[in-house]
Amino acid sequence: MKRSVPLLALGLTVAAATTLVAQDMPHVHKDSQAAPSSAAAMRDSKLTYAKDIAPLLAQNCQTCHRAGEGTPFSMDKYETVKMWSNNIKRMVSTRRMPPWYEDGTTKKFENNRTMAQADIDKVVEWVDAGAPQGDMKDMPKPREFVQGWSIPKPDAVFQLPKPFPIKAYGLMEYQYVIIPTGFKKDTWVQYIEAAPTDRRVVHHIVTYVRVPGSSYFKGVPTNMFFTAKEAEKYKPKMPYMVPDMAPDTGTDGKPTPQTATSKGGGADVPSDWLVGYAPGQTPDIYKDGEAKLIPAGSDLVIEVHYMPNGTATTDQSRIGVVLAKGKVTKRAMTLSADNDKFKIPPFHPNYKVDSSYTTPEDMILVGMHPHMHMRGKDAQYRILFPDGKRETLLNIPNYNWRWQLWYNLAEPIKMPKGTKIECTEHFDNSAANKENPDPSKTVIWGQQTTDEMMVCMFNVVFDAKFTTKQILRPAKTKTADKAPAKPKT
Ligand code: HEC
Repeated sequence: MKRSVPLLALGLTVAAATTLVAQDMPHVHKDSQAAPSSAAAMRDSKLTYAKDIAPLLAQNCQTCHRAGEGTPFSMDKYETVKMWSNNIKRMVSTRRMPPWYEDGTTKKFENNRTMAQADIDKVVEWVDAGAPQGDMKDMPKPREFVQGWSIPKPDAVFQLPKPFPIKAYGLMEYQYVIIPTGFKKDTWVQYIEAAPTDRRVVHHIVTYVRVPGSSYFKGVPTNMFFTAKEAEKYKPKMPYMVPDMAPDTGTDGKPTPQTATSKGGGADVPSDWLVGYAPGQTPDIYKDGEAKLIPAGSDLVIEVHYMPNGTATTDQSRIGVVLAKGKVTKRAMTLSADNDKFKIPPFHPNYKVDSSYTTPEDMILVGMHPHMHMRGKDAQYRILFPDGKRETLLNIPNYNWRWQLWYNLAEPIKMPKGTKIECTEHFDNSAANKENPDPSKTVIWGQQTTDEMMVCMFNVVFDAKFTTKQILRPAKTKTADKAPAKPKT
């Protein structure tokens, strides 16, 4: 049952895995237009929008709630904010906004979005007082956002060859495009971002680095859109997942057409995860001296999953990279501990699946990203050091598959060779799970959100002298397994 698969060797298993969010965003309730509370019932408060609330919304909400970000409303005008004020109060006081699902019992996370209780109280008090505007002279300077990018100005941008048409309704196959980087020498990238041009319809993007000599989609022309099925006419050497990684059958009894991966290691590694996009995800940003590697002559393989939203549109997503300045001593990589061998019985309310990964060399853990679909219930990452010490790193008691978030450690953790990352995820296949499309189904691994995935991604950095081969070689060390401690689950 337990398997550890470095993401590189996994290739598109995880590409497929990053099936996310947008599909059917919860209904937007405009209950703010409901009968305003009578003046008599209103609370007394000195707080005003201009002075007290606008700065809080700018800081906590505007990264997403601004024009062009695919959120239901922008928080740049008093009138709009006032109209939504009852919803804002509800979402903030129940901590459903800003989105953040780890429970605060484990580590500190540098990208933690939770609002301080005192700030939540202010918002509530202000809304209860009738959301007064105050003196607009008190307004903070508007927060500035680089249009389209949240990383510094990219040194190189790789964009889909043309605007891709997205129909108004229906399901769409994953689209792939191979874009040559044109990099003549090994290139280290420190900031990486995938940016849709129409965020309302982009369900997720995954970008891989395809090194020269890789057989991943080999023979498929570059700079054009294709689906995994269309790739077949070029007889690509490795369009699908290797059999030992794919489940035997798909949900309809037919083999599940997973996409490429390799048996792992060496030049035949088809792809290296560069960056993903999903609503709420932040770009990949590394410290000075740390970066991801794009070897000379590599291509980018971009996978985009579009989700029609009722209005036909186009999107021409792009990937931006900022080159590392100065010497890079640590290489960053995205790896994953997955388990694709589960079979969730019908109506099971709490089905447990484990996975693990043991470090083949010394590494530093910098971030974590659990991934499940509609039946995902909770997730936990633990670490087991070679000396037997075990610790919980991340605890997500109420997983929400609509929010595919990374949890980046405020203090990265040193993992000596032989350290084990253990991951446990539970699935709720009961009828009580409102998201469950069909509790009577036995659920196995698959790409669609109505299938499941058990994926525990994580970012590591390690000495740049190690080759990809060394890092992807499965660890022989069994130290961690012999350790006496038992996981507390
Ligand atoms: C990471 C991006 C992000 C941040 C940060 C964020 N939101 Fe949202 N918000 C969204 C998205 C996307 C939606 C629409 C989907 C949904 O409702 O889940 C949304 C929906 C909402 C809604 C409508 C929900 C409903 O059903 O009525 C409210 C109200 C809201 N957000 C308030 C806030 C407030 C207040 C903050 C800051 C304190 C905030 N959000 C921060 C992304 C964000």
